[in-house]
Parts: sequence; structure tokens; C-alpha cells
Amino acid sequence: MMRILVTIDGPSGVGKTTLGSLLAKDLGASFFSSGKLYRTIASYLLHNPEFLVHDLSLSIDNELNIILNDTSFSESELYSKEINSKSSEIAKQKDIREIVSKSLLSLYEHLSTGLIIEGRDMGTVVFPFANLKIYLDADIKVRAQRRLKQSNDSETMKDLQIRDENDMNRDQSPLKIPENSLYIDNTNMDMVEVVKIVKENLKLQ
Ligand code: DC
Repeated sequence: MMRILVTIDGPSGVGKTTLGSLLAKDLGASFFSSGKLYRTIASYLLHNPEFLVHDLSLSIDNELNIILNDTSFSESELYSKEINSKSSEIAKQKDIREIVSKSLLSLYEHLSTGLIIEGRDMGTVVFPFANLKIYLDADIKVRAQRRLKQSNDSETMKDLQIRDENDMNRDQSPLKIPENSLYIDNTNMDMVEVVKIVKENLKLQ
């Protein structure tokens, strides 16, 4: 059976999760946020600083729960100011990126549904063979405003800027626009409009 695979990459606070969840619902696919894996590893390493990366055993179960060395973390533990910057920091490491990429490829392989997945290198590195690769963008001021409304981690414009710079300028899998991708700047658009554009493009695939 042909299972749809759509990747959404872009900077922080741009609306990747909102778009991905809406699309997944519409297409009867699963949605997964790859940043959660980096956040889980960051949280684990903060609690267990003595742990070596090669001793990390990461998996995603059928309900899309993340398990790292028999531990899982709640949403509130993963979405904090401390984890925002720690996850961006550890995401620079090649060995950590390899563990995450392997788990994501295995997730797609074992899933019975299609997959809409968001992150920073989904279309460029992990799933370059996706049916549709989207790069979602928006003005930093608009992203900071949306972020403050949506989340309780009070990530300011300055924090977003630092995290974006980290994610765009690292050596390993930096955030960039994937080849043959659909670029959407949603600074002045609502998500209904964005979903419409994406669905029109999916029809053309
Ligand atoms: O999408 P997010 O804010 O939950 O991601 C947290 C951090 O994880 C982000 O600042 C960079 C890193 N990340 C990454 O390097 N590659 C991904 N595909 C997803 C997230």
C-alpha cells in the first residue's frame, strides 16, 4: 500500500506543528514532531549527565510515545525554556543525530498509516524521498508573537533568534530549504490558506 509521506521543515515558532496536525487529520495520516526526540534526549542528559551517547536506547511505540532507556517525559517537562536551548545544543552532535534519524526511519517503516513529520532536516537529510517536502517560513516578529500566545515556555524573539542561528549554522544537518520543496511564507496567511496550498500541491504529485 502506498503511504503518504510529507515533511515540514522551518525555523522555530513558524507553525509546523499546527500545519502538520491539520494535514494529518485531513489525510488520515499520523503526525510526529521530530524535535520531541531531541527534547527527550536533552531532558534525559540533564537528569543523567554521566550517560554516554552510545548507551542511549531510543524508540517510538505504536501510539507514538517516545521511550529513552525505559524513561518517558511529559509534555511539560519537554517544553521548557531550559529544554529549548539544551535540545538545540545537543542537536549539533553527529552521534545524537544518527540515533534520532534511525528511530524516525524505523517509525515510518513500521507505521500502518501515512506520516506527516516536522523538524529541521526532515526533507534534506532523513526523508529526502518524501512525496512532498515543505519549507515553512515567517517573519521573526510574527513567529515570536505566535510563540508567546501558544506556549508557556516564554521564548522571546531574542531566544528564537539564538535557537534559529544555532540550528541554521551548525555543521551537522543545518536547517535549510530542501531541494524540490514547496516554500511557503505564512507571515500574512492563516493556516487554512496554507493547508489549501499544500493540498493543491499534493494533487500535482
Ligand atoms: O522543533 P522543536 O522546537 O521541538 O525542536 C527542538 C530543537 O531540536 C531545535 O531547536 C533543534 C532540534 N531539532 C533538530 O535539530 N532537528 C530536527 N529535525 C528537529 C529538531
